[in-house]
Amino acid sequence: MASHLARQPTRPTFGWDNLSGAAAAGLPAVDDLPHTRLLTSGRAALFAAMKALGVQPGDSVLAPSYHCPTLVAPLRAAGAAVQFYPLGPDGLPALDAIEPAPRTRAIVVMQLFGLPRSLAGVRAWCDARGVALVEDCAHSFFGQAGERPVGHWGDLATASVSKFFPVSEGGLLAGARPLPAQTLQPAGAKQQVKAWVDLLERASEQGRLAGLNTPLGALFRLKNGPPREATPGTPHAMSEPEMMADCDLARSEQAPTALTRRLLGLPRERIVARRRAHYETLYGGTQNLPGARPLLGALPVQAAPYVMPLWVDDAEPVYAALRAAGCAVFRWDRVWPGVPDFHDDHGARWRTHVLQLLCHQDLSEPMLAHTCAVLNQTLTR
Ligand SMILES: Cc1ncc(COP(=O)(O)O)c(C=O)c1O
Repeated sequence: MASHLARQPTRPTFGWDNLSGAAAAGLPAVDDLPHTRLLTSGRAALFAAMKALGVQPGDSVLAPSYHCPTLVAPLRAAGAAVQFYPLGPDGLPALDAIEPAPRTRAIVVMQLFGLPRSLAGVRAWCDARGVALVEDCAHSFFGQAGERPVGHWGDLATASVSKFFPVSEGGLLAGARPLPAQTLQPAGAKQQVKAWVDLLERASEQGRLAGLNTPLGALFRLKNGPPREATPGTPHAMSEPEMMADCDLARSEQAPTALTRRLLGLPRERIVARRRAHYETLYGGTQNLPGARPLLGALPVQAAPYVMPLWVDDAEPVYAALRAAGCAVFRWDRVWPGVPDFHDDHGARWRTHVLQLLCHQDLSEPMLAHTCAVLNQTLTR
């Protein structure tokens, strides 16, 4: 196998081509909101959202049954009791099934997969109950969410910059109204240098810096020793303290590095265009597979996808094959302790059956072809 196919990057990786194309995305973006604060991660932004809403220990916050643990950890870190809610077939909260606990301050609703949706129903539900809406745009930095641009439904919006830009860390808190002050510890000299080292290391690993890959690769091999093979493991059930430690909230109250701020200014047209093209490739490549189908259909016109979600009937062997082949894929099979078994919860089914095939801009066409080939081989065996 060619080395560039060995392990596909699961998030954007800097390369010279990142500098090309028009500055404008051609789609709305979360940072169009009038008030924004750049932070170190999406989880830091969720933590800041809790603080901005004045969430206190003893308050309750609603969170989806289908989640990345990094969505839940910051709510717990802010002292909130987390009440989980089930999802409907569109990935939005099954509002009829939610009976908010007393002292419910907020609901976190995800704009999943980079395929943002109208939150008109959720907004009305929140307004009727005096519950704040946090629109989690970790998957949807760009796009139109029905009648409003993404991020404009929430009292606050949060985003994960590292899922859309080639930064090792970055998150965003945004809102239509001024954000309450937050004290952030400045990033020290070590963090600033580390950001550059991470960028160059990841870029050279992926062969993204023509002219510099060989010398940089040699330098990093000297620093790190021989490359270690990542061993994909099945997640074991974790206790809440283990989950909290695993989510690493250490830099939640620190300012991001200057490099993160600078790379947020990269041309955006390419980011959107390539993500859209990658979704189409993965969508086309998985149309007629036995026992699998794209979960949510064709790509909406005004979306910059994070992943192409694929439903697989017998997902276990397929996920294992994709991971073993180094494909860029996630499955949200690690669930926060205490999520109830809801009746008819699509979130619970998705935890097992939905494979999130990454479509970020710095994947290459051969990488996507490889992912489609592995799917084909595994499912038609
Ligand atoms: C829906 C959602 N929210 C929040 C986060 C946290 O983002 P970050 O990894 O930037 O902390 C993630 C990360 O995967 C996520 O998927």
